[in-house]
Amino acid sequence: MLVTGAELLQDAHKKGYAVGAFNVNNMEIVQAIIEAAEETNSPVILQASQGGLKYAGVEYIAELGKLAARNANVPVVVHLDHGTDFDQVMLCIRHGFSSVMIDGSRFDLEGNIAITKKVIEVAHAVGVSVEAELGKIGGTEDHITVSERDATFTDPEEAKRFVDETNVDSLAIAVGTAHGVYKGEPKLDFDRIKVIKEITDMPLVLHGSSGVPDEAIKKAVSLGINKINIDTDLRMAFANAVKQFVKENPDNIDPRKILAPAKAAMKERIVEKMKLFGSAGRA
Ligand code: 13P
Repeated sequence: MLVTGAELLQDAHKKGYAVGAFNVNNMEIVQAIIEAAEETNSPVILQASQGGLKYAGVEYIAELGKLAARNANVPVVVHLDHGTDFDQVMLCIRHGFSSVMIDGSRFDLEGNIAITKKVIEVAHAVGVSVEAELGKIGGTEDHITVSERDATFTDPEEAKRFVDETNVDSLAIAVGTAHGVYKGEPKLDFDRIKVIKEITDMPLVLHGSSGVPDEAIKKAVSLGINKINIDTDLRMAFANAVKQFVKENPDNIDPRKILAPAKAAMKERIVEKMKLFGSAGRA
């Protein structure tokens, strides 16, 4: 069933676990995520970036997501990842997304609060949840790149002011992760997660979570992370499986045969993540 982000994340916040948010671009990825969620009895978030929407078209992604949610026997959120533009966010709301992210992290605090409030006024009026970002998460997520130099950790006092003024449903914080493939091992600022959780007492979101060691993820969840975004790990599982299949079966031209191992590989990774995040068995 289709549910809002707030509904899922409030439960995770109260009970101390995290829900996986996996990036989708096509039918096979959606199916892999839903099958993994049903197998582990886990709530799940299907999310599309602006790049994903450009690739597949907002209607395709919205309809795929809503169909998958309707038919699933676990709660499913259809979410916009890193919406940077008011009109884009409105388009997703109009097409039935149950949650949107407004990423105003490129603005100063006042500007970020202003655009987040503007989105929330409309989204909440029609029952759609909103995630915002405070601080700047490094790396590249589709079309959005933040250099290492520009990445800035979230300030706890600013976070308190931000959530009080905006009434946002969940907050993405910058605590040392980055989008994309890591060069070295990421170092998370666990104390910062703890302080932000205490001061805001609300669902917190970790972006750039592919490649973060399992122990670090577990600790982040125990300190208050309730939504964990995964894209790169799924891309790698998909690409490696396709490459291997093509290498072993150079004459096979059937897209269904080529994509089947990719879907299976993604599903396996997602099942592992759901168990790690603590969402398995929570549906
Ligand atoms: P990764 O690509 O590092 O998994 O990050 C995904 C993400 O945060 C999407 O918003």
